[in-house]
Amino acid sequence: MGDSDIEELRQSILARVAEYYDKAHNNRPFVPGQSTVHYAGRVYDETEIQNMVSAVLDFWLTAGPYAEQFEKQLGAFIGVREVVPVNSGSSANLVALTTLCSRQLPDGLRPGDEVIVPAVSFPTTVNPIIQNRLTPVFVDSCLGDLNLDVAQLEEALSPRTRALMFAHTLGNPADMDAVMAFVQRHNLFLVEDTCDALGSKWDGRMVGTFGELATLSFYPAHHITMGEGGAVYTDRPKLAKIARAVRDWGRDCWCGYDNPVNGKCGIRFEREVPGIPGFYDHRYFYSEIGYNLKLTDPQAAMGLAQLQKLPDFIRRRKENFAYLYEGLRPYSEFLMLPTWHPKADPSWFALPLLVRDEAPFMRHQLTRFLETNQVQTRLIFAGNILRQPAYQHIEHRVAGDLSNSDQVMRGGFFVGVYPGLDRPRLDYMLDTFGRFFKQL
Ligand SMILES: Cc1ncc(COP(=O)(O)O)c(C=O)c1O
Repeated sequence: MGDSDIEELRQSILARVAEYYDKAHNNRPFVPGQSTVHYAGRVYDETEIQNMVSAVLDFWLTAGPYAEQFEKQLGAFIGVREVVPVNSGSSANLVALTTLCSRQLPDGLRPGDEVIVPAVSFPTTVNPIIQNRLTPVFVDSCLGDLNLDVAQLEEALSPRTRALMFAHTLGNPADMDAVMAFVQRHNLFLVEDTCDALGSKWDGRMVGTFGELATLSFYPAHHITMGEGGAVYTDRPKLAKIARAVRDWGRDCWCGYDNPVNGKCGIRFEREVPGIPGFYDHRYFYSEIGYNLKLTDPQAAMGLAQLQKLPDFIRRRKENFAYLYEGLRPYSEFLMLPTWHPKADPSWFALPLLVRDEAPFMRHQLTRFLETNQVQTRLIFAGNILRQPAYQHIEHRVAGDLSNSDQVMRGGFFVGVYPGLDRPRLDYMLDTFGRFFKQL
């Protein structure tokens, strides 16, 4: 078979994939009360499947041509120089914080240094602090935007404080004026977990571009998906180089996708490594204590197709949020609706709600009612994470009494706004809330 015959065969396979998608996937009938109204989910068409099949036909497997394009296009969308794809958002957080602990950074984080983090967090925003032998210092959150309470940051400070790490909760940007004033005043590193906030802006600027490093998740619940996947991004090439080493077993090699035989450095085989007699192949030269957190090319192929849809996804998330918000406003006597800063332009992950302490029902009664009626709900991650069993014995400090974190743990939950929710589904959600409140 010649090249053109092979290309023709490939195109016919991809055409059949489109046909398959249309017949097997492209029909989402909605039966109120029977079909699940998901809190999130993958939204795709034939392009995602075709891209993945194409990657499988290439049989490159490990990060390759699709990953390279994905890095470039995601970097262009966010407006950063460096994107380091990884296999999950949790891995991204681990890589980002581990990067700041590098011995290649003279002023890097060292064991025992303190990192301020909100107690209301996703676990793997906190875990890299513990995993890197740093000490988390927990601050409370605000009940309105569910972000870290910037008024408590000064109180959380000690001579060992070196960094601040937090997620922009459910896509709602934290007060970045206050955050940046604080980190600059005290010369702290900032890691922004934007796993739930791709496309959110503060004062016209993308969140994630304020700190040294930021992270993303591409799990199906997130703004774009690769199945499993994530990324670290930064404007600082030196940090990106360290992050790639941490991701890739700790090895120092920066050959990237071109991977020339003699290395990009041109001295792959003649590399002199202090402490190692003679020369040592650069590909086996380790400058970090690393992991293997890489993603595969079929994943990146899906991500690339998703990126084309991202602006539309963001628009639809905002529209769905606004529609539900207006529809739930009549129940604000019982439910605290979220607030956001005038400078914040959230690309919402979900719509958070807080059952007021004075409400004549408990959170679980409402969430059970919603779920029994096929409306999915989720809690605001770990709640006050210090109350979770795994965190009972960690070394830590606390600023304040975390009373809001406890209230979020007691009353907080969220429902979906993802682009897969059309008007009939949104109306059904509102109708289900209405039925709950009617029976009170
Ligand atoms: C704020 C936040 N950070 C990190 C993660 C972890 O991402 P992943 O599930 O891809 O590991 C999540 C997951 O949903 C998250 O919401």
